[in-house]
This record gives sequence, C-alpha cells and structure tokens, in this order.
Amino acid sequence: MTTRAPTDELHQLGRIFADPAAYADPVGWHESARRLRQEEPICRISLAEYQDFWAITRHADIMEIERNADVFTNAPVPALMSREAYVASQAGEQELPVKTLVQMDGDEHKAHRGIVNDWFKPANVKRMSQRVDELARQAVDQMAAAGGRCDFATDVAMHYPLQVILSILGLPEADHQRMLTLTQELFGAEDPDFGRVGEDATVLGVMLDFVSYFTSLAADRRAAPTSDLASVIANAQLDGSLLPEMDVMGFYLIIATAGHDTTSSSIAGGLHALLEHPDQLAQLQDDPSLIDAAADELIRYVSPVKHFVRTCRAPFTVGDVTFEPGDVTLLSFASGNRDEQVFEDPFRLDVQRPNASAHLAFGFGRHFCLGAHLARMEVRALFRELLSRVRSIELDGVPTFVHSTLVSGPKQLPIRFELR
Ligand code: HEM
Repeated sequence: MTTRAPTDELHQLGRIFADPAAYADPVGWHESARRLRQEEPICRISLAEYQDFWAITRHADIMEIERNADVFTNAPVPALMSREAYVASQAGEQELPVKTLVQMDGDEHKAHRGIVNDWFKPANVKRMSQRVDELARQAVDQMAAAGGRCDFATDVAMHYPLQVILSILGLPEADHQRMLTLTQELFGAEDPDFGRVGEDATVLGVMLDFVSYFTSLAADRRAAPTSDLASVIANAQLDGSLLPEMDVMGFYLIIATAGHDTTSSSIAGGLHALLEHPDQLAQLQDDPSLIDAAADELIRYVSPVKHFVRTCRAPFTVGDVTFEPGDVTLLSFASGNRDEQVFEDPFRLDVQRPNASAHLAFGFGRHFCLGAHLARMEVRALFRELLSRVRSIELDGVPTFVHSTLVSGPKQLPIRFELR
C-alpha cells in the first residue's frame, strides 16, 4: 500500500462506511461521500473497532477492482466486519456453517453460479411476469384498502418482494411471516428495531433457523420435484453428485435474503425519491410506460446495497494507489452511483436519464446481481400499477431509514394518497 495518509478531517468522514447509523441519514452520508470522492477517492480508513480498509468511492475504480476478480477476491469476507470478527475469520475460528455465492471465488463460484444462472436469464424470468403483475396488483389493492394513509415501507414495499421470492422458490404463503422476520433479523442485525434480541442474538442463530426450514424444503423437493427454483437447487448435480446439503442451504439462503430487502428498499426508496421530485413523479403519471427505463434510475438513486468488500491477493495499482496482498477494499456502490464523472447532476432524480443503467447498484463483473432482471421486473410492475391508479400521493410524516452498513432504505415511509 502507499504510505500517503488522508487528512484527519477526511479520515473522520470515512467513518460513514462503518457506522450503521450514518446510512440512516442519506443526505449527510452522501455529502461526506461526495467530498471523499472528490478529494481522496481511494481513502485508507483505520478505525479502532473495524478492520482497516480502503474506501473506493469512484465508479471507475469500483469497476476496475470488480473486473480483476482473481486479484481482488470475495474471500475471506465479502462485507465489512468488526476487527474482532475479522481476526477470528482469518484464523478460521468463525467459519459460517453455510457458504453462499457471495463468499465464493474462482472455479467454485463459477460452478455454483452455473447451476442457477439459466433460471435467472431474461427469457426464463419473463415466465414469471404474470405472477409478478398479479402480486403488484394485490399490493396496491391492499394499499387502497388501507383507506388513504399507510406506511408504504412496512405495509407495501416490505411484503411484495418476499411474495415474489416465495413464488419463485415455490414456498407456501403461510410461511411468509416467518421468512419476513428471519430476513429482517439477518440484514437488519445492526438496526435496534430489527436485530434479534436474546440469547441467540447472532447472525449464526438466524442462519441456523434458515437451515432448519430449508432442510425440510430440500427433502420435499427431492421426494417430489416440481418446476420451481427450490427443486432446481435441491436436485442440481455437481461433478455427477447432488450438491452437499450445506451448498443447497447456501443457495436458498442467498435467494431468500438477497432478493428481499434490496428490492423492498428500491421500491420504498424509489417512491420517496419521486415524492421529493414531484416533477419526475408527474412525468411518470402522464406516461406510465416511462417506468420501464426509469426503474434503473430509481435503483441508481436508492442504491440499497451500500457496499461489498474485496481483499487484494497480489500487488495491483488503481489510480495512484498500489494495493498489497491482504489489503481490504470497500466498494461503495452508493457513492459510485453519485459519481459526477459518470452521471450528470447525479443528486437529481431524472426518470429519463439516458445512462441510468450504467449504475453499479447491482455490482459488476462475475458477481453481478443474479436477480437483476427479476428485480427490475418487480420495480416496474409495482410502479406501473401504482402510477396508473394514483390520483394524489404525498408524504404524511418524516421517513426514517434502516441502520445498516450493508442494505439500507426507508424503514418508515408514511404517506397520504388517493387511488382510483
Ligand atoms: C433492486 C434489487 C437488488 C439489488 C440492488 C441487488 C444488488 C446486488 C449486489 C450489489 C450484488 C453483489 C454484486 C457484486 O458483488 O458485484 C448482488 C448479488 C446477488 N444478488 Fe442481488 N440485488 C437485488 C435483487 C436481487 C434479487 C431479486 C435476487 C434473487 C431473487 C438477487 C440475488 C442475488 C444473488 C444470488 C447474488 C450473488 C451473485 C454472485 O455472488 O455471483 N438479487 N445483488
């Protein structure tokens, strides 16, 4: 690594990447990120309670690191963790019982991703469009039944993507609430309102609950295969044998979790952005077909997945910094998506932005979000339905945001509305 040290002031700003509460103040967070992007775009951050890391805030630098996935690996940990947990993971003391795609690299990742890759391709995902439209309609029907006022984040945006996932996996609606609680506990572990309290207050405890649920699901689908995604995974073969049980769990876990509050946050955050930009909302209301292209702009603007981490394996230079083996880089997708060098007037929501799809909210390269086509379909379906029925819609209180360094969006979005 280079020896250059950021000024104390810039270094202090670097806390935003490690502090879950900082993400709950999106305006303040983005102001700090903007300064770092302009003054120290690759900034070394050393905090007492976290592993040392380099904050990568520019779009081009994030892509450069993602493009070189043999040099910058997801192992040993794909996300920022406390110094204590990091040391334990390096010593192999805290091996998670389940490994998912985001913890894999190289051939292992390629082989595993190959199992579900076809299922997530646009042609296949399209088969789901009728079901997704139906669930979007139900979501807006429920909103209408609320009688003109609701908390859009918890009453609408939180449930709908989960129902989509339950549908693609083939799980019964009766299990909806259990999955909702588990995913919130896992991703909201840093948020005081969502994190699990009690003896098993660990990510491990929540993971074990997932494992017990999905073990019986896999057994069911092996005994009686269907056409759902749960069956594809339960019956997949690698090197001529069924996948080991823990790999099956890894798949179920990543699909049930990665596709849930990421999409909820995009939808709730997307509506919040539109309410803050009434001229853009009016454009979509005048012509709801614009939502097909605008979905990417909403996702760019919200960037619900805030970061992932990559660890350097061999000396490699990006910009004027040479990384050395062991250096941890934090890819700030949220910052890259407001990069002035790529997006003109990046703090403005522009539903007709010509290059909105250049965003990094789905990551880039080998680990590019597997569910991106499905997520776009969900966002489009929900807004198409909502915009075609809404007569008026406005904020009805102050929104709050999830405390998390990994996935964050509105926690409460009180609205007042009139629907057709
Ligand atoms: C708007 C909603 C979503 C956002 C913003 C999002 C974002 C992301 C990001 C940033 C990554 C990591 C990319 C990287 O490391 O370069 C990722 C990976 C992944 N996402 Fe999504 N995601 C969303 C929805 C979904 C959905 C609906 C599913 C599936 C049902 C899904 C499944 C996955 C999987 C399986 C991976 C791991 C891919 C790999 O490591 O090879 N995501 N997503």
